[in-house]
Amino acid sequence: MKKVVKIEKLGGEGVGIAHIDGKVTFVPYSVPGDELLVKIVHETNSYYKAELIEVLKPSRSRVEPLCPHFGVCGGCSHQNIKYEMQLEYKQDLLNEIFRKFVKDGVKIEKITPSPEQFGYRNKLQMQCAASRGGKIGAGFYKIRSHEVVEIDYCPLHSDPINKLVKSTVSTLNQFKVLPYSEKLKKGTLRHIVVRESKHSGDMMMTFVSNHETLLNQTKISKALFSKNKSLKGLYIYHNPHDTNVIFEDSEGVKLNDNRSPLRKIFGDDFITDSINGTYFNISPLSFFQVNTLQAMNMAKFIEENIGFQNKKSSLIDAYSGIGTLSLGLAHKFENVLAIEIVAQACALARLNAKMGRARNYHVRRGDAAEIIANSLTSVKTGDFADKYRSIILDPPRAGIDEDMRKFLCDVKIPEILYISCNPHTQERDVSQLCSKGGYKIAKIAPFDMFPQTFHIENIIKLVQ
Ligand SMILES: C[S@@+](CC[C@H](N)C(=O)[O-])C[C@H]1O[C@@H](n2cnc3c(N)ncnc32)[C@H](O)[C@@H]1O
Repeated sequence: MKKVVKIEKLGGEGVGIAHIDGKVTFVPYSVPGDELLVKIVHETNSYYKAELIEVLKPSRSRVEPLCPHFGVCGGCSHQNIKYEMQLEYKQDLLNEIFRKFVKDGVKIEKITPSPEQFGYRNKLQMQCAASRGGKIGAGFYKIRSHEVVEIDYCPLHSDPINKLVKSTVSTLNQFKVLPYSEKLKKGTLRHIVVRESKHSGDMMMTFVSNHETLLNQTKISKALFSKNKSLKGLYIYHNPHDTNVIFEDSEGVKLNDNRSPLRKIFGDDFITDSINGTYFNISPLSFFQVNTLQAMNMAKFIEENIGFQNKKSSLIDAYSGIGTLSLGLAHKFENVLAIEIVAQACALARLNAKMGRARNYHVRRGDAAEIIANSLTSVKTGDFADKYRSIILDPPRAGIDEDMRKFLCDVKIPEILYISCNPHTQERDVSQLCSKGGYKIAKIAPFDMFPQTFHIENIIKLVQ
């Protein structure tokens, strides 16, 4: 059934919302203000899902997407929306998610725009699939599918990353490496992962392979290093599992361990990037904020918003990765305790601390809640909050778990800086910390870490 609709606003995952005969209608890839001809493709008692057929009258916020694959590739959702409107959408969404706090007078700060709207991503993860003639083609999954859209150039990544991937795919095909087929569970190459240092321009690449080695691996490596001067390290990660998780079982992987699924083929162990003058070694498996320039803005915000900065206070960085958000602050505290579950990230955090001569930066590997709970057996609850006056929390999308929430409510750390890429789980956690632990929101500060997508990064400062 075809209908004409006017898009009123964007909903949760950046999908346009209109009404047909009073019923909510979701139209992907539409822009608020658009008048559209749509086709209803799915109906329930409470809503319609519709497909865009024709833009009858474009919204004033509609722009031409840079990428020809926009609307097919699942990577971007907002390339057809003016950047100012993308920011407005994210601001409104946060107002909606945190409405109960906003109603109580909490103000959400103006979102910090990304310093770069395109080319900002320092990490590319492409899927490999059979292209014409069974050769390797690389691209991203179509939205909500495992079908790969082959991509020649992704504008969210830099020119050098795009050039490296193009040259790699052609070299792999020249040496007859076969793509892995998810359907047949056969073939070799599953993913290509590239990381780039925005500081030096150096790159590191990892082949995720169904087999331990690639056919002609040494020749491929020689060809790639001779053609790409910015490529500094090449790795292979053996993933024979029935999964689409790229680095399966990565938590315990150590650098240069013979039993590791990750092996270096050639070159350096890591590349080095810098956040506001602090240097970080980055390896294939460790988390690093994907938008380096915006991560610098976040790190600066954290530095300016930690109240207790003196040699008598200590800081906890829970979910610390390689130390990105706290290493640069170590000289301001008596001690910093960084807690991280991935072994390789811990090894790098220690190395980074050594490189930055931060002798008071201590890294513990394990589950953040468990490690903190264990240290509480030797320190009295009150003494803990006296020693550690500030804590940085930067958990994965799922947020902090019940144990961590309970600990924070019991111990009442004077100050929490909670960084999140999922405001829904962040709202759940913050609500509990306020209602059960007596915390109060001092600041909510969003950062646009992921332009052209609906994803949001948000920092909340909580105080006792
Ligand atoms: C969003 S990243 C943040 C990393 C770091 N703060 C940064 O800015 O680069 C979340 C980190 O938490 C780690 N992690 C996940 N679950 C964890 C857990 N239960 N305990 C400790 N660390 C965990 C991940 O390996 C990842 O490095």
